Amino acid sequence: MHDATIHQVDESTPVGQHWDAYTDQQHAVWATLYRRRMPALRSTACRVFLEGADAIGLESECIPDLALLNRRLAKRTGWKAVPVGGFLPAGEFFSSLARREFPTTVTIRAADQLDYVPEPDIFHDVFGHVPLHADPVFADFLQRFGQVAARSTGPEDTERMARLFWFTVEFGLVLEKQGVRAYGSGLISSHADAANALSAACEHRPFDLDAVLNQPFKIDELQPVLFVVSGFDQLFQAVATLSESM
Ligand SMILES: [Fe+2]
Repeated sequence: MHDATIHQVDESTPVGQHWDAYTDQQHAVWATLYRRRMPALRSTACRVFLEGADAIGLESECIPDLALLNRRLAKRTGWKAVPVGGFLPAGEFFSSLARREFPTTVTIRAADQLDYVPEPDIFHDVFGHVPLHADPVFADFLQRFGQVAARSTGPEDTERMARLFWFTVEFGLVLEKQGVRAYGSGLISSHADAANALSAACEHRPFDLDAVLNQPFKIDELQPVLFVVSGFDQLFQAVATLSESM
């Protein structure tokens, strides 16, 4: 089952990463997760993820130091992974994206919970999300999403924005020359979710803004329906359209 959760409940606690405090066992959990995902991703993840992971120098053997990673990201798109202690309320999460700051948990799952964690951890947040932030088009889309979502008023708007986030940033698929590839962090960081998403068990629908905004989802089961974009400029265009209608 998946380890992706939209970041929209509870309180926030500003924290630092304290990279020196990670134990050898915690670094070993990262290394194990990396070795379990990266080889499969060479043929199932989108090109932008693979290039982004190289560009930010994603570590294979130890938990990334966010300060180092942010220096590499700054040169490319100005995005930053900002440590948080837990979930953020939706408004704060969206506002953070609007500033090109990605709220990032800094804890890592336990060695006996490799396949399922109920809340995001640094493997989901950094391995799954951050490589895409090195891509200029995705970077602009995510910031624009944050700007539009931060203006949402009322639970209905927030739910629609959560759906758009879920079916793109968390569970999005993209059509490349070789076929459908994963870009959503829930797919990048979880073998079970990616295997389901790229199998016949999951219906692929062409990305359509209205269809996505009206598509409910459940966070605690394998996804029966996902949406395929033709490229990230389609995502940017979708939030621009949404911005005009809100
Ligand atoms: Fe996520």
